[in-house]
Amino acid sequence: MVGIAVLGAGRIGKIHAANVAASSKATLIAVADPFAEVVEPVAASHGAEAMTDCMAAIARPDVDAVVIGTPTDTHVGFLLKAVELGKAVLCEKPIDLDMTESESAAAEIERVGGRVMLAFNRRFDSTFAEMRRAIDAGRIGEVRQVIISSRDPGMPPASYVKSSGGIFRDMTIHDLDMARWLLGEEPVLVTAIGARLIDPTLSDYDDYDTAMVLLQTESGRQAHINNCREAVYGYDQRVEVLGATGMLTQDNLRPTTMRFTNAEFTDAREPLLNFFLERYTQAYRAEMEAFIDAVAGGKSMPTSVRDGVQALRLAECAVESARTGRAVSV
Ligand SMILES: NC(=O)c1ccc[n+]([C@@H]2O[C@H](COP(=O)([O-])OP(=O)(O)OC[C@H]3O[C@@H](n4cnc5c(N)ncnc54)[C@H](O)[C@@H]3O)[C@@H](O)[C@H]2O)c1
Repeated sequence: MVGIAVLGAGRIGKIHAANVAASSKATLIAVADPFAEVVEPVAASHGAEAMTDCMAAIARPDVDAVVIGTPTDTHVGFLLKAVELGKAVLCEKPIDLDMTESESAAAEIERVGGRVMLAFNRRFDSTFAEMRRAIDAGRIGEVRQVIISSRDPGMPPASYVKSSGGIFRDMTIHDLDMARWLLGEEPVLVTAIGARLIDPTLSDYDDYDTAMVLLQTESGRQAHINNCREAVYGYDQRVEVLGATGMLTQDNLRPTTMRFTNAEFTDAREPLLNFFLERYTQAYRAEMEAFIDAVAGGKSMPTSVRDGVQALRLAECAVESARTGRAVSV
């Protein structure tokens, strides 16, 4: 059994704690968060110890692995402490909002041989994983284009936006990782545009609510990502991959597959699953199982700290491209 401490008892920490607790190969030793009133109910619901000192949780001898689900600006400190103590880590994205800080953390982790997995949960969605397997099996031939539509149901609160690092580092980063993963090659050129069609005050933070990104790899493979912070019909997550001999597509998920037809509508369906916690429930569970399997079996991590650095690098290029109106070489 792998002993695990989950740091952070907020939105994502709660999901990770539940998935560790549900695993037959791991024990949730502790949940840590500086706010006792936040962490106590989460830990108690899984029979784990509640701690208010994250560093102390990392250092526990019964903790083999750490899951970092705390605010982004705390990730690097916990990451480096955990690898220094020889603990495996599943770290939420992004590593940090600063490229230099992320680079130097990655270099230090590699120097000490730290075992770190970056939490790019979408790779573990059963449909997206099947798409990757179909590409690997040669079912659509050489990949030519990847098209990703990723739209949130509504604007996050202003307080979140302010410290998020902007749409490209906060939201597009998932899609940039997906694009790298599905293209199978590193993008070398990034073009991005951004607009404030929902909230003009985002100009106060140099941020956008609506954005498009184009990527191109050395061999010419292309990806197009489109993001919007508000889609009135719900959380929209669609991916299309065009290859030389075929195409892969998938559907958004709904609570059921029922269709309703009457005199006014044909084939009306239920709304899309609300947001990421509902849409990616299975992916978060599979991500945790993959992490636990890698730790228990001494296998290589399914994603690495370098994946985190590379996705952030592409996000930085998108920020620059949107600001300057020029294509940016990676
Ligand atoms: N992979 C995904 O789909 C996904 C989804 C959401 C969030 N995230 C990432 O997870 C991280 C947390 O996001 P969230 O939405 O759960 O945030 P949140 O605000 O809901 O939760 C963060 C928790 O961290 C605690 N905290 C605050 N300061 C702390 C400190 N100094 N040390 C330790 N803990 C502290 C807070 O009390 C809170 O309970 C972020 O890095 C975010 O980018 C990833």
